[in-house]
Parts: sequence; C-alpha cells; structure tokens
Amino acid sequence: MIGLANQVIACCRRLAEFTEEPGRTTRTFLSPPMRDVHRVLREWMEALGMRVRVDDAGNLRGLHGRAAKRLIIGSHLDTVPNAGAFDGVLGVVLGIALVEALGDRCPGVFIEVIGFSEEEGVKFSTPFIGSNALAGTLTEDILNRGVSDAIREFGLHPEDIPAARLSPEAVAYLEFHIEQGPVLESLDLPLGVVDAIAGQSRLMFTFTGSANHAGTTPMLLRHDALAAAAEWICRVEAYATGVRGLVATTGRIEATPNATNVIPGRVQVSLDVRHASDEIRHSAVAFLKGAAIEIGARRGIAVELEQRLGQGAVAMDAALTGVLARSVEAAGYPVHRMISGAGHDAMILAPCLPTAMLFMRSPGGISHHPDETVIAADVAAALEAGVNFVEQLETTLV
Ligand code: HGY
Ligand code: MN
Ligand code: MN
Repeated sequence: MIGLANQVIACCRRLAEFTEEPGRTTRTFLSPPMRDVHRVLREWMEALGMRVRVDDAGNLRGLHGRAAKRLIIGSHLDTVPNAGAFDGVLGVVLGIALVEALGDRCPGVFIEVIGFSEEEGVKFSTPFIGSNALAGTLTEDILNRGVSDAIREFGLHPEDIPAARLSPEAVAYLEFHIEQGPVLESLDLPLGVVDAIAGQSRLMFTFTGSANHAGTTPMLLRHDALAAAAEWICRVEAYATGVRGLVATTGRIEATPNATNVIPGRVQVSLDVRHASDEIRHSAVAFLKGAAIEIGARRGIAVELEQRLGQGAVAMDAALTGVLARSVEAAGYPVHRMISGAGHDAMILAPCLPTAMLFMRSPGGISHHPDETVIAADVAAALEAGVNFVEQLETTLV
C-alpha cells in the first residue's frame, strides 16, 4: 500500500499547485484552478473505469461499479487562503486510490467518490455549498449570495442543482481527512476514528464609529471603531480561554478607510465559535454578542452582527463507526476515538445517511497552513483500513 500512498501524496501536492494566487495555495468556490483539479482527478478516475461528471453545484463525482448499495466517499477540493496540500483534497484522492486498491473486490458495493466544490466558505462566507447540494439543504438565500452567478460562470446551471441530490441508493458516507490538530501526534498514533464533530457558529460583527483626522482629534473625543473592536477581540480570547473545550477565533478584520492618519470609522470582524456541546457554544455566542454591545455603548460605537453559520454538533453513526473501528483494528492499528474540532462535509451528510470519519495524523498539528503535511505510512494505514471497511460493508449492506 505504501506505493499507492506515495501516489496519493504526490497527487495532493500536484493539485496544490492549482491556485488563484501564484506562490501559495488558494482555491475558492469554482475558481478557474478548480478546472485543473477536476481534469487531473478525472484522468485518474477514468483510468480506473469510473464514470465521471461534475454536478451543477460544482461537485466532481466518480462512480465505480454497478451494485444496488452505494457507498459515498468524499471530501472537499476548495481550500483556505495560503493553504496546505491535504485539507479536503486528501479525502478525495484517497477515495480514488481506495477504488484502485480494491480492484475487482467487493462488487456488491457501488462506490461514488465525490470532490465537494466548497467546504471552507471563503468566497461567500458560506461553507458546505457542495455537500448541502447533495443533502438538498442549499437555500435560495445561499444561492443569492453570488453562488448562482459563480455556478453560471463555471458553465453550470444552478436551476439543475436539485439533480445533484444524494442518490436514494446511498447507504453510507465515509470521509477520510487529516486531523488538523495535535492529538494523534501527541499519542504517536497514525489514525483516529471520529465519534462526533464539534458544532460551530460563524458571525460577522460590524463596529461603526466616526472616521476623523488622526492628528487633530483629541483621544477623548474619538469614536474609534478599531479600538472598540480590539477591546472586544481581547474579550473574546479571555472568555474562550476560561471555558474548557471552547475555541473562539476572530480571524478576519477589515478596517475602513484603512489609512494611517485616519481614525477608523468602520470595522468588520468575523467570529468563529466551536464546542462539542451546542449549549456551551450558544451561551458563548450570547455572551460575546453582549460584550460587543456593552463595549459599543460605552464608546459611542454602533454594533451590528450577522449570523453566517449555526451548525450544530454532529455525532457520527454509531454502527458505521463501529465497522470503521473494527476495520482499523483488523488492519493492525490501534483504535483511538476522538472529537473533531474542525468542521467537515460529514456533518452535512450525517443527517441524510449513516456517516463515519477516519483521521490521519497531522505532523506538527499544523493545518490551514502551507506546512500542513501527512505521513505516507499513515495514508497506507488509512487505505488498508478502507479496504477492510468496504469488505465489511459488503457483508453487512448487501
Ligand atoms: O474550518 C473548519 O473547521 C474546516 O477546516 N473548514
Ligand atoms: Mn479546512
Ligand atoms: Mn477540511
């Protein structure tokens, strides 16, 4: 399997070169480099005899076999700005490699490998576009955020998105993904079996004060939107640090007019809050909303906010995750059960069909960064577990 694992890694690194930003990997929803990604993956899929199409949500889809019960294996092909080479992409390439590893085995399982068009939500601050299309949960509101225009520009037809729905023959979804954190490396383990995915809230806060001359406006007469946002950002960090298992991030900030000698009049700040418990996450969001409003009132700054995502924590299917754990064990690897702090397309599909996730170790615990990497032996381990998983599925599903 190590040869195939090295081929998977080489393919991921090649796909990382398809980018909107020369010199770093950035590939957002249906941007031109996505065509190159589709081309390369289609070549490999078709060489394996898979039937390949791109649906009208921009998902690349490859079918292998013709059995009654369909296993979906997928992940996303878009990236964050200045990304690594493996977040999302590895799950798609590994799915294709698994088809190659299986060869003619398991004719009773009809495999569909899917490369989702958008999971990160970078272009429209709206994640999970591709998997929502499969789940039938892509709303008009999302489509009207510019998503339909991007689909048309790519040569697809948003009015035909309903045809992208999950096939009724689909009986299970499996997602391979890098852990994106330090846990497996700290335990010196190659693989992790995911029990649940933490819920996440994403909001955009707007602080509006008064732009003015930086030289002539006394400090006490200012309504500095950036100073207010900065006080709030520190409050976000302090609150999250005090709650076990909670993470909160203000990753995106835009100040206007963004000039050295002008007091910022308007600042937009993103907020990303995650926790395995929805109750704790919701109370954190409520507290941080209150903090922004209190700071704004004291500083004479107007505060508005928009919720961009409210995704509940999602448990993986217990029975299917049991099959996955036994598959890992049968391949000779320790089984480590864990929670995913990162969001994944699996959380969108889990309400539609039994869903399981398998993590591979992230060396250095690094992700959403060019230094993100994966170990070939761990990819080989995931492939071995994947073959066992499909073989077990064939006896239980069909
Ligand atoms: O942000 C996330 O959790 C994922 O990497 N999209
Ligand atoms: Mn990601
Ligand atoms: Mn991902």
